[in-house]
Amino acid sequence: MPEIFVEGGHRLRGELYVQGSKNAVLPILAAAVLPEGETVLTRVPVIGDVAVSLEILSALGVSVSFADGRLTLCADSLCSAEVPQELGARMRSSVLFLGSLLGRRQEVRTAFPGGCAIGSRPVGLHLSVLRQLGAEIFSEGDRLCGRVEQFTGGTVTLPSPSVGATEQALLAAVSAAGETLLRGAAREPEVQILCDFLCACGAKIRGQGTGEIRVTPAPLHGCHFEIPGDRIAAGTYLAAAAATSGDVTVRGIFPAQLRSSLAVFRRLGCLVDEGEDWVRLIREGALRPVSRLETEPYPGFPTDMQPLILPLLALASGESRLWENLFENRLGLAGELNRMGADIEVHDRLAVIHGVESLAGCPVAAHDLRGGAGLLVAALAARGDSHITGRKYMERGYEEPERNLAALGAVIRCSGESGQRRGKREEARWRNSDR
Ligand code: UD1
Repeated sequence: MPEIFVEGGHRLRGELYVQGSKNAVLPILAAAVLPEGETVLTRVPVIGDVAVSLEILSALGVSVSFADGRLTLCADSLCSAEVPQELGARMRSSVLFLGSLLGRRQEVRTAFPGGCAIGSRPVGLHLSVLRQLGAEIFSEGDRLCGRVEQFTGGTVTLPSPSVGATEQALLAAVSAAGETLLRGAAREPEVQILCDFLCACGAKIRGQGTGEIRVTPAPLHGCHFEIPGDRIAAGTYLAAAAATSGDVTVRGIFPAQLRSSLAVFRRLGCLVDEGEDWVRLIREGALRPVSRLETEPYPGFPTDMQPLILPLLALASGESRLWENLFENRLGLAGELNRMGADIEVHDRLAVIHGVESLAGCPVAAHDLRGGAGLLVAALAARGDSHITGRKYMERGYEEPERNLAALGAVIRCSGESGQRRGKREEARWRNSDR
């Protein structure tokens, strides 16, 4: 199993151009079965979840060619509405193929989706929006199936602003017979980016970024689209800078999308400066505790940043309290941080963090994507060597994290095949493959 070795205690300094957004590209790849003609996506991150999505598209008959972050797709040759069981079960976002394939093929078969074990992660809201738009959804053994003559459109209401269910509704609504009004929609930037992509393909969408989105169906055609920078990857490198008393500038992002996270870095005592497409974080002196912090839907503090801030709170000079409101298992990282010398008590969804002066490197295990990145942040700050297992989780969402951190001055290496080599091999599989 690939593992990461970190010699802690080195200050990170320098600049980094951040990867394209994982959570933006995945729904766009599910949407790629819809347009007629060729779609070219640039700044596509070479990460595990993209690799699984390309496998799914290829199995559906979509032609795929991927080189240097430039992905060319054409669904004119689509010949199946069945997401292979093994692929669908590997990634939560595979559930988004329900809406797009129903729109394109009027039927679908897929797996109950997999993904990180950060909570029960039900799909009831996804199925509800598809049913509200007229689809019949049912299970056959371990398969999730659906059929629809044509999505109807109409008013679709989400009782809570699920990101995935909002994306599901959008992917269905663009193929509907009439206009759809989506009430209770999620406002996350990745939802807006999906709308931008669908509009670039010819869809007519209004209200994205608010709780009410209106979709008027129109024929979709291929387009050229650049995936924006990843706000959570950017936040990860800023957290690593904060953990090591560093000075790091992250480029290629929209700082407005990181507003709530930047506010937390400032409350921790870091200096944060921002420009049109960059953020610089400098830490001088001790980290300050944060008396009350809770995860919320956008524009609140994102649950995906919580495991990256937890190691910083563990090192703050006082007591902090952190509530995880979205995913019930997401404070699991506290146990591993305590093995490194942190003092964190978890009571259900509340973490009470008694700051300690330093963490000590030791063997620790990642159990999910952002939790793994949080361990990396802790290991960079710790005294001595850390050895992190479970790199496979980080590969799902981070492009070459060891190389990026080493370029900033971290002493870090990866056993087995490096992320960079694996990435190149992955790209080579799809280069001119036309599969
Ligand atoms: C997306 C992100 C994930 C992020 C999360 C919240 C992707 C690929 N993943 O996940 O990184 O942490 O948004 O910002 O974009 N829920 C239900 N029923 C459903 C769906 C969701 O009860 O059918 C609940 C979830 O259990 C959770 C809450 O709604 O408590 C929010 O989940 P949701 O916004 O749907 O997250 P994802 O789209 O899975």
